[in-house]
Amino acid sequence: MRNVKISAVGAWVPPRVLTNADLEKMVDTTNEWILERTGIRERHIADPEIATSDMALNAARIALEERGTTAEDVDAIILCTVTPDHMFPSTACIIQHKLGAKHAWGFDLVAACSSFVYGLTTAAHLVGSGSHKKVLVIGSDTMSRIIDYTDRSTCVLFGDGAGAFLIEPGEEGGPGFIGFRNELDGSGGEALKMPAGGSRMPPTHETIDQRLHFVHQEGQAVFKFAVRRMGEISSELLAAHNLKPSDVKLMIPHQANRRIILACADRLGIPHDKVLINIERYGNTTSGTIPIATREAIDTGRLQKGDLVLFAAVGAGFTVGANLWRW
Ligand code: ACO
Repeated sequence: MRNVKISAVGAWVPPRVLTNADLEKMVDTTNEWILERTGIRERHIADPEIATSDMALNAARIALEERGTTAEDVDAIILCTVTPDHMFPSTACIIQHKLGAKHAWGFDLVAACSSFVYGLTTAAHLVGSGSHKKVLVIGSDTMSRIIDYTDRSTCVLFGDGAGAFLIEPGEEGGPGFIGFRNELDGSGGEALKMPAGGSRMPPTHETIDQRLHFVHQEGQAVFKFAVRRMGEISSELLAAHNLKPSDVKLMIPHQANRRIILACADRLGIPHDKVLINIERYGNTTSGTIPIATREAIDTGRLQKGDLVLFAAVGAGFTVGANLWRW
């Protein structure tokens, strides 16, 4: 496999902000409860005219501009989401057309909060095989469209946003992709799901009345699985490459809950100052969390050339993923 690098990173969130104080007026909750139990202070919410492809396009354009390249050079688009514009055609098609990526193929990748890590792994192999030169991996989710804003146990957690990485061949022996470990554990499927809207339970008046087109979850089951497996898969990946947690310069985890992230870092033995946490301002943007956090790490100087960076995520399914890259 040839060397593969992340050559550009873009991120975009909608301007409207929903604070904990706003949520206090909508459901029976408090700013203190949300901050203490989740670490979230505010999240961005898309206005009705903004859909997943719009946020994805903005993030992708920022990445392409940063790299100084055009959409015509893109060979493939991997659009990671659980909130596509439509069931079909894929949101990747919409992005390909609007971006003007005339030579690209692509697809939507659905692995909930692990989608972006799975997308990175896939892109690394497309480019690493020598068959592709520029692959866009975009994580974009408009979670506010599938959240029940009368359910206090879920509506405080999520926000909307998008981020994009451009993946290209790296210099041989230079920084780039080191390895991955991804897995499915479908036995956890009931713990976090949107029950209706698919072929198992197509939309009817009853499914709408029963609020089955929204996210349903067993919060504690998800919490426990995420802490355990996100830590384990990260240490398994490090060990497979003869690396130690102390070698990691920056861990950029999926942002689901501040307590999940810190407990996972503690289990791994990675000090908190080596973990990027920005959930306070964005909430859980599902596929958007890792690229949005990476953009922040670059902008704040926390990610430097040569750093070993660990991306890790757990999502509905359950899905679990970790990637190691040398920046
Ligand atoms: N405000 C006030 N009280 C609340 C709220 C709220 N927003 N939400 C729940 N509560 C109440 C509950 O009703 C419960 O009350 P009770 O004891 O009277 O029954 C009490 O708080 C404790 O509820 P728990 O569910 O035990 O609270 P917990 O500490 O587990 O926190 C939370 C709940 C934040 C949902 C947590 O379990 C969690 O973050 N789980 C992970 C969920 C997640 O991230 N899912 C989405 C993505 S998947 C992924 O990204 C990994």
